[in-house]
Amino acid sequence: MLEDIYPDKEWIELISKLPSGTTVILGPSNVGKSYLSMFLFTKLQKVKRKIALITLDPGQPIVGLPLNLSLSLSNPLRMPYKLKFTGTFSPRKNIAATLSSAKTLLDVAKESLAEYIIVDTCGYISTTEAREYKLHLIETLSPTLVVCIGNKEILPLFKVVRKFFPTILIPPSNKAKVITRQKRRDRRTRKILAHLQNYTLETVPFDQVIDTNCMIASELLKYTTPTATLVGIIDSVNFCKGLGIITNIKEMLEVATAVEIKKEDKILISKERCEDLLHKLGLQSEIRIYKRHLIPVVYPTANED
Ligand SMILES: Nc1ncnc2c1ncn2[C@@H]1O[C@H](COP(=O)(O)OP(=O)(O)OP(=O)(O)O)[C@@H](O)[C@H]1O
Ligand SMILES: [Mg+2]
Repeated sequence: MLEDIYPDKEWIELISKLPSGTTVILGPSNVGKSYLSMFLFTKLQKVKRKIALITLDPGQPIVGLPLNLSLSLSNPLRMPYKLKFTGTFSPRKNIAATLSSAKTLLDVAKESLAEYIIVDTCGYISTTEAREYKLHLIETLSPTLVVCIGNKEILPLFKVVRKFFPTILIPPSNKAKVITRQKRRDRRTRKILAHLQNYTLETVPFDQVIDTNCMIASELLKYTTPTATLVGIIDSVNFCKGLGIITNIKEMLEVATAVEIKKEDKILISKERCEDLLHKLGLQSEIRIYKRHLIPVVYPTANED
């Protein structure tokens, strides 16, 4: 990946003066935040520094796994060291989970004795709510340095953040390209598809299933049509092991997943659905009426490879 990154002069200067500790990268979309994070990570790793990358953008398709925040300690393009499931593609829809999960991942990075912790964030900065969220996030992470990338859009946040933490402002990358929402969505679907590639259909009793609105799953599922809803498989210490997709609901929840679901795991229902993923996985749905709501029933096709 590094061969594809063309660093700006500000990025090269940043490497030589980067303080150890936590560096948070803020900015609007498509300015080069994620590429800068990867650049810093790869450069520091080459000179044998212990480095962690925390990615707080659960919608991005490159590092980690969609619907999750991630902590990588080695190659960020591989499965991360730890994942925290937020259940949305945008932190906007679940700010509380994003803040607490970000803190958890930072604590794990510190426990793993990372000298440098780079935190990549999402491009949600333009509204009052977005700026409030980013300020809470910065306070939660208490960084050694904040790097603001961008022009006019980042200035209001930059002016406030620098009153609290050491902050620098750099321009958008010369090489930054606009990735459209549709392209981002397509890449995300491909990433989830690859993750679910070797799926099996698993049935899970409802007492292992949790909805983020704290509804009792068996009740909730009577009133919704959650087929094609993505779920997270959460281990006994509350990290995410991987994703699944709901294929059917009867006395139990049926999910397609490539990770093993143990008795002590929980299934967290996300706020996101991905209908075309079922088709891409070779699962076809058929709609039938159930308690006056439409519940799609899904059968695996004969040829699954
Ligand atoms: N230094 C660079 N060298 C080469 N390509 C770059 C560089 N910086 C950015 N790009 C290009 O611009 C695109 C957007 O950059 P990047 O993903 O880093 O933006 P971002 O600020 O993280 O956006 P978002 O908030 O949407 O995640 C990249 O996919 C890449 O194609
Ligand atoms: Mg990014």
